[in-house]
Parts: sequence; C-alpha cells; structure tokens
Amino acid sequence: MAGGQVRNFTLTAAPTNLTLGPGVTTQGWAFNGTVPGPELRVRQGDLVRVTFRNQLPQPSTIHWHGIPVPNGEDGVAGVTQDATPSGGTATYAFVVAVPGTYWYHPHQHSAEQEDKGLYGALIVDPVTPGAATATDTTIVVDEWAIGPMLTAPPPGDGMDMMAYGIDTVNGHTGSAVPPLRLAAGQTARVRVVNAGFLTHNVHVHGTAVRILATDGHDVADGAPIQAPVPVAAGERVDLGFTVPSGSWSLDWHDGTSAARQITIPLTTAGTGGATDASWNGDAAAVDLSTYSAAAPPSTAATATVSATLHLNEGSSGMSGGGMSGMSMGGSQFSINGKSFPDTAPVLVHRGDTVELTFVNDGKLVHPMHLHGHAFEPVVLNGHPWRALMLKDVIGVAPHATVTVRFVADNPGVWMIHCHELHHAAGGMDTLLQYAGSPRLATLTGDTTPE
Ligand code: C2O
Ligand code: CU
Repeated sequence: MAGGQVRNFTLTAAPTNLTLGPGVTTQGWAFNGTVPGPELRVRQGDLVRVTFRNQLPQPSTIHWHGIPVPNGEDGVAGVTQDATPSGGTATYAFVVAVPGTYWYHPHQHSAEQEDKGLYGALIVDPVTPGAATATDTTIVVDEWAIGPMLTAPPPGDGMDMMAYGIDTVNGHTGSAVPPLRLAAGQTARVRVVNAGFLTHNVHVHGTAVRILATDGHDVADGAPIQAPVPVAAGERVDLGFTVPSGSWSLDWHDGTSAARQITIPLTTAGTGGATDASWNGDAAAVDLSTYSAAAPPSTAATATVSATLHLNEGSSGMSGGGMSGMSMGGSQFSINGKSFPDTAPVLVHRGDTVELTFVNDGKLVHPMHLHGHAFEPVVLNGHPWRALMLKDVIGVAPHATVTVRFVADNPGVWMIHCHELHHAAGGMDTLLQYAGSPRLATLTGDTTPE
C-alpha cells in the first residue's frame, strides 16, 4: 500500500515480577516488562518491523492475531517457523492493510506462555479516519491462576479453569484498576481485547452502546444496545457510546457467582466526578447473531469448498494425539475424532470460497479461530446470521452449529484452532492448507504451537 511508513519496534520477552493488585504478585513473563506488553499503534499501509528478543527460558515466537500477514510472518512454531531459541532474536515484517483492533502473543507452548502474561494490543488506525471519537481506549482482559480458586467452574468451560480466580484489565485487578476518566457528552471508543481463556461479557452500565467493530472489522451502523456484549477468548469488540453525565461504569458479567467476587471495578467519572465502582447485577448478553446492523448480509458466491469440523472433548474412544494431545488436566480435545497433529487439514485452492461448519458435540464453549483470513458468520443453528460482521474468532456454544465463509486469498498453511488454549494444547487444532503452498516448518523436539 503506497504512502505507508516503516515502523520499527523491539519486543523483548523475559521473566518479570508482576504486581497485579494489592497483595497480588506473581512471577510472570512479559514483553518489555509490562502486562500487557506495549500497545503497538500504527497506521493502515505501514510496514511494521518487529525485532523479537527471546529472554525466556524456552523457545518462543510472536503471532499477530487477526492480521492477514504473509504466511512466513505468522509466528506459529512448527508450522510457519522454527521457534526462536532462548537467547535468540528474530524479526517479523508485514504491511498492515486492514485497520482495526488486533493483538499479539506467542504461538509456541501458548497455553503456558500467553497465560503467564505474554500479550499486547496492536491497533491499526485507518488511513481515512471515520467519525471522530474524542477518546480511544484499549482494554485487555485476562484471567490468572495465581490466587483464590473459583467456587464453581465457569459456565461453558471445564475444570481446567477452576484455578483462575483473579481477573485483570490491562494487567490490574481490584482496587489497582485505574478509573477511566471521560467527560460527559464525549464520544468514546473502547476496544476490548480478550487475552484470556473464558468468555467475558462487557457491559457499559448507564448508557447504550453500539458495536463499532468485531475482530478489527467495522460493523456498519449497528443498533444501540443496553445488554452486555460477549467477547470470547481471542476475540475483540470495539464499542462506541456517548459518555453519560451521571454516574456509570463498565463491568463484566461472566455468569457465575464467582465472577461477582472477581468483578473488575473499572469505572469512569463524569464531569461531576461521579464514579460507580459497583457491579451492576446479572444481565443476559446480547446475541451477536441477531444483532441488527444496516448492512445486509453479503451474498457471496456459493462455496467451492465446504468442510464440517465436529468439536468434542473427552478422553474415551479417541485415537491419536498421544502425549502431545494431552492437556495439563489430562483431558483430550478433538476435531472430527482426532487430536492435533493427527487432525485432517482443510485443503483449498487460491480463489476458493470456503465454508467451514463448526459443530460443537461437546459440553464446553469452543472459541474457534482461523489464522490469515477474516470470515463472515453466515448460519447459526439453521438460521441466517443477521448482521454482516467479519471475524477471526467465533464462540461456538455447546450443541451449536455455526457456518462461516471466507475467500481463500492468502496462500499458506494456517492454523484453525480453539482459542481456549488448554483445549488447543489438548489437540483441538487443524490446518488450512493451500494447494502448492509449502509448509514452512515441522513439529520437532520441543515444538508445540499451542
Ligand atoms: Cu491468538 Cu492461533 O492465535
Ligand atoms: Cu475449546
């Protein structure tokens, strides 16, 4: 893209002592000493060049979640590159063609490496600015397994998450969360990035919001909504609203009594200085598939490739996987009855219109993520998906069937996996493989993309 700048960044991953809140400390891993790592803010058309210095005690990579980079820059150990060894350095370079809210994290032992704090936001501003927003804030939400246990498993997730009793926004929890201070009447854009493993339902209490973008892609003229907005693991949602004059707040409704105890008092003061740090009670989240937006669903060509991916969990009667298919809890996760790396790849040619149908045969939510492309959800449980949205993660509820569609326009070998990374580590991964595209790396030794 003409006219872009070259933007150079250095990201150094290293063990770091973290203080998340009063009395909440842990030895984590961080980029440049902070969680989240630095927000990389660039402009559409820029060439982003990142020097990655690995000072972790194990090999690592950086993946640019949601950005349609060339395959060799995707940062997936054992698929697109060999992991950078401890003490080593690597560089990534890619043009950011699509504006929006993206993020970065390792893709080697990612269930462990991302969990320890290795993640950050990557925001691409449009060349042509849209409607002016007075404030633009990024909120990265995450859970930590370092303090109290949850009293019950989170809804839609398994026992693996029981240990995750601390939530953070931008690396802070409890009274350490700084208030957002906005003036009444301002138009605000809040970019929510979910770097955790659970779905978080974000609620701006006291005003209606519009969904401005999902996974970096604008949603045209969405209707105002009052309900919490679900943000699945790995997903991003940009919310827009006019700051109300009274007291109001931004809180989270994850559907468990435990979630109340880990309510994040992220609060905002109006011009009068009013701050409301309270949790605002249970509320059902909006159903994104029925979200009303002005743009009609696209009428893309009929699919030339269709694949159905049955998602399941459990350890009985499953073949393959071996030790590499076992998560830390010993549970196994599968696509069409096999665990990665034994899953069958989805084979495509450049130019294909591809339909993937995710069928959740299990009991847990599976936020499914596709690398290198954005897809359009088209059918949920037999009903057309109403709003046109482009996404790269879609939360597939237990017993749900979701069909997504995309054009195969970025040759390579790309991951398709669950972004509840314990599930991915347990084998819920496969590959999107273009005819004629070589796989750039192989799984050897200590290589584990998830
Ligand atoms: Cu957020 Cu395969 O990654
Ligand atoms: Cu899953």
